[in-house]
Amino acid sequence: MNWSPEIFSINSSYQDGQLSIAGIKASTLAKEFGTPLFVIDENDFRVRASTWNASLERHFGGAAGTVYYAGKSFLCVEVAKWINEAGIGLDVCTGGELAVAQQAGFPAERIEVHGNNKSEAEIAEALRYGVGTIVVDSFHEIERVNRLAKAAGMSAKVLIRLTPGIEAHTHEFIATAHEDVKFGFSIASGAAWKAVEECEAASNISLMGFHAHIGSQIFTSDGFEISATRLLEFMAKYRDHFNRELPELDLGGGYGIAYVPGEQTLDPDQILLAIATVVKHQCKELELALPKISIEPGRAIVGPTTTTLYEVGTTKTVSLEGGASRRYVAVDGGMSDNIRPALYDAEYTALLANRKSTATETSTRIVGKHCESGDIIIRDIDLPLDIDAGDLLAIPATGAYGRSMASNYNHMTRPAMVAVNAGSARIILRRENFADLLALDVQESARKLS
Ligand code: LLP
Repeated sequence: MNWSPEIFSINSSYQDGQLSIAGIKASTLAKEFGTPLFVIDENDFRVRASTWNASLERHFGGAAGTVYYAGKSFLCVEVAKWINEAGIGLDVCTGGELAVAQQAGFPAERIEVHGNNKSEAEIAEALRYGVGTIVVDSFHEIERVNRLAKAAGMSAKVLIRLTPGIEAHTHEFIATAHEDVKFGFSIASGAAWKAVEECEAASNISLMGFHAHIGSQIFTSDGFEISATRLLEFMAKYRDHFNRELPELDLGGGYGIAYVPGEQTLDPDQILLAIATVVKHQCKELELALPKISIEPGRAIVGPTTTTLYEVGTTKTVSLEGGASRRYVAVDGGMSDNIRPALYDAEYTALLANRKSTATETSTRIVGKHCESGDIIIRDIDLPLDIDAGDLLAIPATGAYGRSMASNYNHMTRPAMVAVNAGSARIILRRENFADLLALDVQESARKLS
């Protein structure tokens, strides 16, 4: 039995074999909205957003900048409204994410624009909307932002994304601040200083400070501490050269959450206290005023709030070499709604959510319905032997990078997201249907192009 309250959302409970979220049985939700289904615990989301905000203020006081929710982890119009209502900021990294923010009426000054290859159209729209901050990531962008801001008759507030040269202890594809990576300007190579000079020389850029994001799913403070230290040293170098201090420092996101029993979601107070201690100490050493410190948690806010419900469709036991066997349980989703196991070897846990079982637990592999043998959700988990077609499996902690990285592989329709709160449920992102899938198919006669 895999009920692990620390991994499920705050308002989840488990009794007599029934999982409930915000007071509603998983089986009721599945019946009402179909499966696969993302169930987001609205109160949990709002609490986490406010908790990070309060924690930043607690540890940095007057130097607390903005908590920017990283929209890439999961964004829809309703969630952008929750973020706004929590009073925090929003980090968008494409024109599409900005469009969602705009649809939600998200205040422009609390939006921060990221991305390593922002198009002219994206920059122009961000400036037109009046976003608070643009984080530049290349020399091309410095030139583009300056030119477009000039054309718009304004000055763009900019942070420069730096690469502090840190090997974060995480999967290669989600580590971002070592040297050989596409993001940021390297401090070590001198590129970062050149970016500073270009921003200073640009007529329509106001350089506000620096940014670094060292990676994702990080559990220890050392990487953040080293990053903050290197960024502050760089700020001191700026002060020494330009005789002026920059007011902002953004330390990025990456705070780890629990996915499987034994893991512990990082406590905001614990990590921010550690970071604040180092930042304050370094500022004193370098005789710098404390800059406004911002952070960008994505996974840590949305990850634990969401549970995926799947219906079991088929089961199968295959013989392995040496007389062993493996049981496969196939559900009605898979890598199109959760690519993380295939992409990062990410681990999850699962719970039989619709009934009590006293059957012996056996080593089970949970797979999806895609035409690909790598379509595995959980490689090996002990689950009751009598799990059968029609049963409901709940996979917790799927809020971050699940729906947001979902695809239509095999022409699967992407699942709905249902928000539950105090016994009520509402769809905030509807399930795709076949008409949606076919909407892009076009039959037209070829036009001669020369
Ligand atoms: N800030 C920046 C500049 C980022 O690039 C990211 C994530 C974040 C903040 C938020 O990081 P978080 O707090 O959510 O870890 N698809 C991968 C994660 C990619 C993260 C990309 N950038 C995954 O599923 O694990």
